[in-house]
Amino acid sequence: MTVLVLDFGSQVTQLIARRVREAGVYCEIVPYNKADEALAKKPRAIILSGGPASVTESDTPRAPQRVFEMGVPVLGICYGEMTMSAQLGGRVEAGHSREFGRADIHVQRPSRLLEGLAESGSEPVWMSHGDKIVAIPEGFSVVATSESSPFAVIADEARRFYGVQFHPEVAHTPRGATILSNFVRGIAGIEPEWNMHAFRAAMVEKIRKQVGKAKVICGLSGGVDSSVAAVLIHEAIGDQLTCIFVDTGLMRAGEADEVVTLFRDHYNIPLIHAEAADLFLGRLKGVSDPEQKRKIIGAAFIDVFDKESHKVGGAEFLAQGTLYPDVIESISATGGPSVTIKSHHNVGGLPAYMKMKLVEPLRELFKDEVRALGRELGLPPAFVGRHPFPGPGLAIRIPGEITEEKLEILRKADVIYLDEIRKAGLYDQIWQAFAVLLPVRTVGVMGDGRTYDHVCALRAVTSSDGMTADYYPFEHSFLGRVSTRIVNEVRGINRVVYDVTSKPPGTIEWE
Ligand code: XMP
Repeated sequence: MTVLVLDFGSQVTQLIARRVREAGVYCEIVPYNKADEALAKKPRAIILSGGPASVTESDTPRAPQRVFEMGVPVLGICYGEMTMSAQLGGRVEAGHSREFGRADIHVQRPSRLLEGLAESGSEPVWMSHGDKIVAIPEGFSVVATSESSPFAVIADEARRFYGVQFHPEVAHTPRGATILSNFVRGIAGIEPEWNMHAFRAAMVEKIRKQVGKAKVICGLSGGVDSSVAAVLIHEAIGDQLTCIFVDTGLMRAGEADEVVTLFRDHYNIPLIHAEAADLFLGRLKGVSDPEQKRKIIGAAFIDVFDKESHKVGGAEFLAQGTLYPDVIESISATGGPSVTIKSHHNVGGLPAYMKMKLVEPLRELFKDEVRALGRELGLPPAFVGRHPFPGPGLAIRIPGEITEEKLEILRKADVIYLDEIRKAGLYDQIWQAFAVLLPVRTVGVMGDGRTYDHVCALRAVTSSDGMTADYYPFEHSFLGRVSTRIVNEVRGINRVVYDVTSKPPGTIEWE
């Protein structure tokens, strides 16, 4: 443990950890009310996150008092600043309603926290209004003010306690990353030793220790997470690892071959390629309800995986590409303790009866770190940068019944769409882009003839985590080009539409 972030339920707590890690310093998030174990590990700096509650109410969250007695630097952000002030003897009152907004802070005196910033004396930040401090605790002084807040930045330089009323972790505070870096590196004096090169070496050792001489199986989906996990584990234990790739028949064009070539031929990782398209399509025949489709696919996946894993014989461990956002416990919106752990809806989730021990080497990593690790491990950049693809595959991009014919039509349209996106240099700006084949046929005219064919919908969104998303604002000329190519080149589609729904209220996938 190097830096501990105590979470008070802010929507953006994860970003604090990401910014700190970007500064090369390892950092973990723990709910404020479950901090004992983490504090016992002697963090070298502590950050108190924002949160939706008000410290002016008596039963709202507080930091464990020990936090202020350990002799380590503490940074309170937003709610964290309020509770720190209140707990150290300052006075906080309820302010007007909570809202985010752009503001400028005006620096009143130099502080190590703002080193390298505010040369002009003022600095744009993303402010959070809620409670307001009316008296700061003894030992503190005002470092910066803003129009609405006389205590926008406060500091007790001797004890190394700092409070900021705004959110340095969000992109709307342009130089917020510098503030967090100043705190963990300059003030706490932590060396930037967290990088994927060091992580790789440490994790290889850890996997060897955990697994010993036992066999491990790993379900490969073709996605980045399971692929990176597999390559890392293979580096650690070589052929004690066998990968299982279940080909559902619901993959995109050429995808199954790519996975097999990369892992079996390039990395020489023992790979079972279970060709199960007939089984999946057979069980999906006549089914058009989205939830039912998902259930059928999930169950079929488990059946195939279970059967194939027996072929490995005596495997004790199952490897999974679980990421940090899946394991961080969340705090409920009321600020009260919550035990919900985000469960992922991966098709690869296996039933308890398989009773295997888990190897999850990516549990501490964010997605962008997994990508960096993939590059560190030598995975092809195009592979590492791939858009997410859902476990149920194209089945949830064909509303209605799935047939081999529809899958073929959709694959062709999808290839053209992504080809144009890559040619336009837009692939990396988009979180996910894909074609959807609608169960609607419309009339068209091509050459001299009338057509009566399917409608293809195009989807492209930007997002940072898939939880919320905006549709991508393509230029009309781009959409026109894709439409012309799809209608001309794909038999079975005579009309193309673009989905301009954000999430919420829409979801990214259509089913
Ligand atoms: P939605 O459609 O819920 O999707 O906005 C959010 C993100 O999750 C992906 N997704 C899935 N991934 N198994 C997965 O592994 C699934 O069943 C599944 N359903 C949706 C989706 O592609 C998007 O990135």
